[in-house]
Amino acid sequence: MNVEHIFKTNFENYPKGDWIIDVLHDFLGSGIFNSDGELWKVQRKTASFEFSKRSLRNFVMETVQQEIQNRLLPLLQIASETNKTVDLQDIFERFAFDNVCMIAFNHDPSCLVFDSSCNLSSSPFAFAFERAANLSAERFRYALPFLWKIKKLFNLGSETILRQSISTVHDFAMNIITSRKSSNKENMQDTDLLSRFIVSTNNDNSNKNSDEFLRDIIVSFILAGRDTTSSALAWFFWLLSSKPQVEQKIIRELKSIRTQFQKGPFEMFDYEEMREMQYLHAAVTEVLRLYPPVALDARVCMEDDVMPDGTVVKKGCFVTYNAYAMGRLVGIWGRDCSSFVPERWLDEKGMFRAESPYRFPAFHGGPRMCLGKEMAYIQMKSIVACVVERFDIDVLGKDKCPDHLLSLTMRMKGGLPVRVREKKINGQD
Ligand code: HEM
Ligand SMILES: *[C@@H]1O[C@H](CO)[C@@H](O)[C@H](O)[C@H]1NC(C)=O
Ligand SMILES: *[C@@H]1O[C@H](CO)[C@@H](O)[C@H](O)[C@H]1NC(C)=O
Ligand SMILES: *[C@@H]1O[C@H](CO)[C@@H](O)[C@H](O)[C@H]1NC(C)=O
Repeated sequence: MNVEHIFKTNFENYPKGDWIIDVLHDFLGSGIFNSDGELWKVQRKTASFEFSKRSLRNFVMETVQQEIQNRLLPLLQIASETNKTVDLQDIFERFAFDNVCMIAFNHDPSCLVFDSSCNLSSSPFAFAFERAANLSAERFRYALPFLWKIKKLFNLGSETILRQSISTVHDFAMNIITSRKSSNKENMQDTDLLSRFIVSTNNDNSNKNSDEFLRDIIVSFILAGRDTTSSALAWFFWLLSSKPQVEQKIIRELKSIRTQFQKGPFEMFDYEEMREMQYLHAAVTEVLRLYPPVALDARVCMEDDVMPDGTVVKKGCFVTYNAYAMGRLVGIWGRDCSSFVPERWLDEKGMFRAESPYRFPAFHGGPRMCLGKEMAYIQMKSIVACVVERFDIDVLGKDKCPDHLLSLTMRMKGGLPVRVREKKINGQD
């Protein structure tokens, strides 16, 4: 009830607030992820309209499938042939970065491109982006904001590097924006978000179409889509490694969908087929319950308030909700709350049953709910489906829970080292 109160019922009273926005402002400007009030509302309106369109979903499907076929599967194939240890979390982060850059502004940073010894390529844009995100998040660690502000003022240490990284990211985005604006506008609205924002704000005389405004939206989207799905996928494969019966059920479901839609072995699944994957949907959601990528999130209280449970909240207080802890509450999930049980998400007919976002806040809820939820599921389900049908993933040290690394998202410290073995074709498992 308290979470619903913050997310929805008294939404206006719990914005992100100046402290958070200040910390991320150099990097994100006033992009959708880092603004409140009217500034946020106009972006949200345009973005949610675009995210409701089938054309954007098709574009997402297309880019995901290409990245899987041209990069992910060949990489795992080589890893399997050479019996090489690879870091699955790193691979998924590269996948997600390539993918979200394609969706955001049709740019391919090629982070998942590799050579014959499985060495992955480096992209200066991706590197600068990651550094800017790292160092921006580090500012939250200063107990007193004026400390990082002083460092920034005198351009010292990490603030110097942050400034450089941000300017690399911004210059890069700006170049794409200016060249796109001057290019042919035919068919523009049917692809990436940048084109859609240019078209949809074109007839507007305000500054909504300014280059900086567009840049900030794009950077916000890249940040939001960058290491969320990869975090979930890394935890997914770690959990799966000690649950062979869950893997068997996923494989069985995929097999029956292939039969139902008369698909040959290893043909890519399309959107309709993916919607049939109820058990896989449940398994992925169960991972998000136990390891929500956005584990903690905070808001600021604008006016004195009383929560539904009677807690008094004073103006200016931080209000934090903890999705990680909520996923492990007996009161919400029952006594088996710390076990990985995909079945809890299924009804008697085996259909996925959604949970209220106020009990399961992995994607937030209310007016500021995650916009990329469907895109995230498309990405995660496509990847899992392709990988489990073709490969056995042998997680090194799977009996020990990987250490958590909490920044804007919760990842695994040291990555997820695995060995990959190709399954025998038409194996009868
Ligand atoms: C498993 C994957 C994902 C999870 C768990 C997730 C979770 C979240 C959460 C918790 C928020 C609220 C953050 C806050 O307000 O402080 C959020 C916001 C957002 N997410 Fe996601 N997200 C995921 C993937 C994506 C993807 C792939 C995209 C698309 C590019 C995306 C786009 C956004 C955007 C634009 C917002 C800001 C919405 C707003 O403030 O109005 N997310 N997400
Ligand atoms: C792969 O390498 C590991 C350790 O380096 C070794 O234990 C294993 O037997 C190798 N597997 C194959 C199929 O060569
Ligand atoms: C791949 O990386 C390894 C270790 O960093 C290096 O020794 C090797 O030369 C690289 N291979 C190629 C083809 O660049
Ligand atoms: C960002 O932080 C992570 C986790 O501490 C680290 O592994 C990574 O190397 C950092 N990236 C950059 C570009 O600084």
